[in-house]
Amino acid sequence: MSDAPEITADAVEAAVTAALAAIAAASSTTELKAARSAHVGESSALARLNARMRDVPNDQKAAFGKLVGAGRGRVAQALAAREAELAEAETAAKLEAERIDITALPQRARVGARHPLTLLQDQVGDIFVGMGWEIAEGPELEHEWYNFDALNLDADHPARQMQDTFYVDPVAAHLLLRTQTSPVQMRSMLTRDLPIYIVSPGRVYRTDEFDATHLPVFSQFEGLVIDKGITMAHLRGTLDHVARALFGAEAKTRLRANYFPFTEPSAELDLWHPTFTGGARWIEWGGCGMVNPNVLRAAGIDPEEYSGFAFGMGIERTLMFRSDVKDMRDMAEGDVRFSEQFGMVV
Ligand code: DAH
Repeated sequence: MSDAPEITADAVEAAVTAALAAIAAASSTTELKAARSAHVGESSALARLNARMRDVPNDQKAAFGKLVGAGRGRVAQALAAREAELAEAETAAKLEAERIDITALPQRARVGARHPLTLLQDQVGDIFVGMGWEIAEGPELEHEWYNFDALNLDADHPARQMQDTFYVDPVAAHLLLRTQTSPVQMRSMLTRDLPIYIVSPGRVYRTDEFDATHLPVFSQFEGLVIDKGITMAHLRGTLDHVARALFGAEAKTRLRANYFPFTEPSAELDLWHPTFTGGARWIEWGGCGMVNPNVLRAAGIDPEEYSGFAFGMGIERTLMFRSDVKDMRDMAEGDVRFSEQFGMVV
């Protein structure tokens, strides 16, 4: 140990300063470990100074002991502080590196939506099925006889001009795109057993403009009841029930006298819409009446024994004022965002 440095305040200070600088410069726990062994390890300057204590005369031992001890103390403190600092930083870096963003949305298939017209049509069907009625269907390409003649409109009946018809070539075949769901009335009377309780939703065609309130292709639902003892009270009760099922407990209907060739008496049907956007009000909803005896006779049903009622409403129109759709064209253009507003419930 003879080559060890003299214990002097300067020598201790120099060793401490070098140690503190190395500790401060360590940027990881590994580097700090290296600094520790270099500056406080067995062959470090401070250890060698400490070893010289043996050679110090007894009366100075206490003073030099204090000097070296204080230096070692400062270095030990700096090491501990730096070690805590680096450990904390390293833990933080590790946590950051291993972080999982649980707020990120997983990639998912887009959820589809049914068209609101289909939803409404199904809902209307459910209301009638709930009353024990059956769903009836008829073709969209229809024979003129079912669409007009069977409904008591003869060849020059002015009512034929009420509806602008798409006729299908050759004209001699008397085929057309049905202008109403009413031809299903006669098809049902000719094919079903009595009594008849049917509702028939479906597409109809007219040479109408394509604008906010008209479509050349739209849909209706037709109702028909033929039974013994059927009166207008049954018609009214049925319509009120359907109105409440679709528009809430406050809804009701009213009839205004009108003319349809296939019903007698006939009425225009108004709906009291309690939750209409802009305030509760009466809205024209469709047509209805007691089945004309001529129609019953054409189907081979005796009007002395049986009577019935019928009604027809537009589904697009219903969706418009029920769900506040401003423009009917949105229902036809097929932009999926329109359907997505409704999801699976209309
Ligand atoms: N078919 C008529 C139309 O499209 C609506 C209608 C009126 C249907 C009276 C009926 C009825 O069943 O009885 O304008």
